[in-house]
Amino acid sequence: MTSTSPETSHVGVDSSTPTWPVLSITDLVVEHRREKTRDLFRAVGGVSLTMQPGDTLGVVGESGSGKTTLAMAATGLGPRTSGRIELLGRDLDTLGKRQLRALRPEVQVVFQDPHGSLDPRQSVRSGFRELRKLQPKRTSWISDTALLEKVRLGPEMLNRYPHQLSGGQAQRVCIARALLMRPRLIVADEPTSGLDVSVQADVLDLLRESLADSGASMLFISHDLAVVQNLCSHVMVMLHGEVVEAGPTASVLSAPRHDYTRKLLDAMPGARWREKQ
Ligand SMILES: Nc1ncnc2c1ncn2[C@@H]1O[C@H](COP(=O)(O)OP(=O)(O)OP(=O)(O)O)[C@@H](O)[C@H]1O
Ligand SMILES: [Mg+2]
Repeated sequence: MTSTSPETSHVGVDSSTPTWPVLSITDLVVEHRREKTRDLFRAVGGVSLTMQPGDTLGVVGESGSGKTTLAMAATGLGPRTSGRIELLGRDLDTLGKRQLRALRPEVQVVFQDPHGSLDPRQSVRSGFRELRKLQPKRTSWISDTALLEKVRLGPEMLNRYPHQLSGGQAQRVCIARALLMRPRLIVADEPTSGLDVSVQADVLDLLRESLADSGASMLFISHDLAVVQNLCSHVMVMLHGEVVEAGPTASVLSAPRHDYTRKLLDAMPGARWREKQ
């Protein structure tokens, strides 16, 4: 596939929603240089998508298909070669530094490696304190202990440093930090892939509950279609930097149109579409 058709690349379209989309991407291209040859290649090759408020979009695809590159460009945190990005109704190209900074708290990113995203010199409490100092009004809605309760951690965690937290606890702290900002969009880049299977399920439940509670939208990156099926209202399948299929999760998974999606489904035990054959 050399380009994505608007029919398959726009997900979550709901014309009855009165507000602007949470995220709208048009023809996004991100080029990187190959390490050895130094020639340019398209890590993301012309992706378009629209996320409406409340959408949970799962982006799936094999390693190197451009998922992280897409997410970083979409949030303005990573490079973009061409294409237009509107985040919470604002065109990133028209925003000045101050406006962009004002938008930051609304969009929170949760990364795969929780320990890597926490400052090792900062206790959980001082980490929260720093965020509260940066955004006093936005963060005054909840106490530290109530926030920890939301991610099912006890108050004793406040005094812990990252090295004193398990992977699952550290990821919960990262999610708590994201929730503290009351974001309208959470971007979660394989947030559970570094965790034990049982802990993964807990953290995913937690994310689901938090979204239901806060009404935030989520761009959820994963290579696990089963997780996306459980968590996401919409799914977008990427291959070599391009979208091969996108739409409501139930429709895409029950009637996949692209060979690659079928291949992903084949690898998923008990896949619905196969049961229908
Ligand atoms: N900063 C960079 N410089 C050069 N190449 C890069 C850079 N970041 C990513 N790439 C390359 O771009 C392609 C897409 O990478 P990306 O990290 O977006 O993939 P991904 O789908 O997130 O993969 P994974 O599932 O392994 O996380 C890969 O070939 C990767 O090696
Ligand atoms: Mg990645």
